[in-house]
Amino acid sequence: MKAEFDLKGKRVLLVGATGVLGRTYAEALAAAGVRLVIADHPATDVLSLAQSLEATGITVDISKEDEVVKCVEVAVGKLGIIDGLVNNAAATSESLRKEGDVFAPVEEYPLALWQKTIDINLTGTFLMARECGRHMKSCGKGGSIVNVSSIYGIVGPDHGIYDNQLFKSFPGYSASKAGVIGLTKWLATWWGASGIRVNVLTPGGVLNDHNEEFERAYSKKTPLGRMADRSDMVGMVFYLLSDLSRYCTGQNYIVDGGFTSW
Ligand SMILES: NC(=O)c1ccc[n+]([C@@H]2O[C@H](COP(=O)([O-])OP(=O)(O)OC[C@H]3O[C@@H](n4cnc5c(N)ncnc54)[C@H](O)[C@@H]3O)[C@@H](O)[C@H]2O)c1
Repeated sequence: MKAEFDLKGKRVLLVGATGVLGRTYAEALAAAGVRLVIADHPATDVLSLAQSLEATGITVDISKEDEVVKCVEVAVGKLGIIDGLVNNAAATSESLRKEGDVFAPVEEYPLALWQKTIDINLTGTFLMARECGRHMKSCGKGGSIVNVSSIYGIVGPDHGIYDNQLFKSFPGYSASKAGVIGLTKWLATWWGASGIRVNVLTPGGVLNDHNEEFERAYSKKTPLGRMADRSDMVGMVFYLLSDLSRYCTGQNYIVDGGFTSW
């Protein structure tokens, strides 16, 4: 058996393709010769991004079951077979801010915001995995599903580093991202016999317009002494989609500069 790193010609659905990390993945996968379908919320520029990458674009709200079913149908119609899913979409604080006080103290935390976070980050991840996994199983060729968690699905935040910041961590995010790890392990053991690998990519904090005070405080907590660059995650996405990781399933691949190692 020869293990190939080459992603050329692999058929990949990338969900959550226009954000900080998703856009980087989309550009890198397209440049690697992947046959790419990118999907994202209707409020994003996913269709024009797809056009610029010579990929196919689909709009989808991943918290809506009928839209996820349709999205995967369209992706399959375009690609024939899906070899890989990068399940990257999530409600981060930015996208939830318009829904209410996403950073409210937990003692007064609005149930609607908690629910919305779970609906997108956990249920949306489940729905995408369910639809792609069913398709992969019926094709009988296996596949790779890459779900996305966060360091805050593994460790609690040091709330002090968010003092004086306009953004903070919030409870539904941690809970949903921890749930993604459990879901992944469940799906990996369910689909193992069908050759469908399911793993988690867990990124650490990615530098993105953070002020110096936050960057310094976060970096001090990181053995490699800096926040992630958005390109730091690309290697793991490629590895997990490629045949080089063909014996890996049910695992959590943490790319965090050592943040969770102390
Ligand atoms: N950036 C970081 O520091 C960091 C750290 C750890 C984990 N992560 C994880 O990495 C992934 C990408 O993060 P990012 O920083 O690029 O975030 P981002 O907010 O820039 O991007 C999130 C993407 O998800 C999409 N999305 C949100 N709600 C959606 C919905 N209902 N339906 C469809 N798409 C929806 C957004 O449109 C966007 O494309 C997320 O899963 C995030 O939790 C990011």
